[in-house]
Amino acid sequence: MNRAIAGSGAVVPFAVLVSGNGTNLQALLDAERSGRLGRGQVALVISDRRGAYALERARLAGKKALLIEPDQNLPKEARRRDLSDRIQAAVREAQAEFIVLAGFLSILQGSILDTYRERIINIHPSLLPKFGGPGMYGERVHQAVLAAGETVSGCTVHIVDQGTDTGPILLQRTVPVLPKDTTESLAERIHHEEHIAIVDGVLELISRLGNMDNRRAFS
Ligand code: GAR
Repeated sequence: MNRAIAGSGAVVPFAVLVSGNGTNLQALLDAERSGRLGRGQVALVISDRRGAYALERARLAGKKALLIEPDQNLPKEARRRDLSDRIQAAVREAQAEFIVLAGFLSILQGSILDTYRERIINIHPSLLPKFGGPGMYGERVHQAVLAAGETVSGCTVHIVDQGTDTGPILLQRTVPVLPKDTTESLAERIHHEEHIAIVDGVLELISRLGNMDNRRAFS
């Protein structure tokens, strides 16, 4: 990783980690193609799940796509660490400046969290800190929101720290929860907002990294 983000015109390559369909990845790929991603450039897509359609989306866009699966022979903690270490090696190899978790369901642990501190962002389909934490992903989040009788939900882009869904929030987008909503209808409404939020989150992070480097340069 290049600690200092290069001057204003330079491309900022990043990695996207996925586990499933990859509509958020698609939003990033589309934004890159249309120029809405600014200096951001998807350098690498990594899936921890074989058969994730997100990998196909990456290949169709001409992006490097890797499958890095958890080693099921290892106990839980060691498995997370081993997966994280292998992902870190691939991200370093691709010279990515930061990492976007776009529907990535494994928990990152160990060295990657230190090396890429404040350089990993995650998108979550609720208004954190509500409806986050271990086991809260995808449909389960929307089920919990409906069960709690919430009238507003949405999505959050946040910096990843040592916890699950606990890091500093970069931005949120809200949607109404309607009386007739099902988990599917609510998920669809939120997904639409996520596709805007994830692009804005990447732009925000690139801007922050640039500012951090400027401060370092003048101190
Ligand atoms: C998205 O809704 C994302 O917020 C969620 O998984 C979905 C992936 O959709 N992530 C989590 O729940 C993480 N806790 P996609 O594969 O179509 O982008």
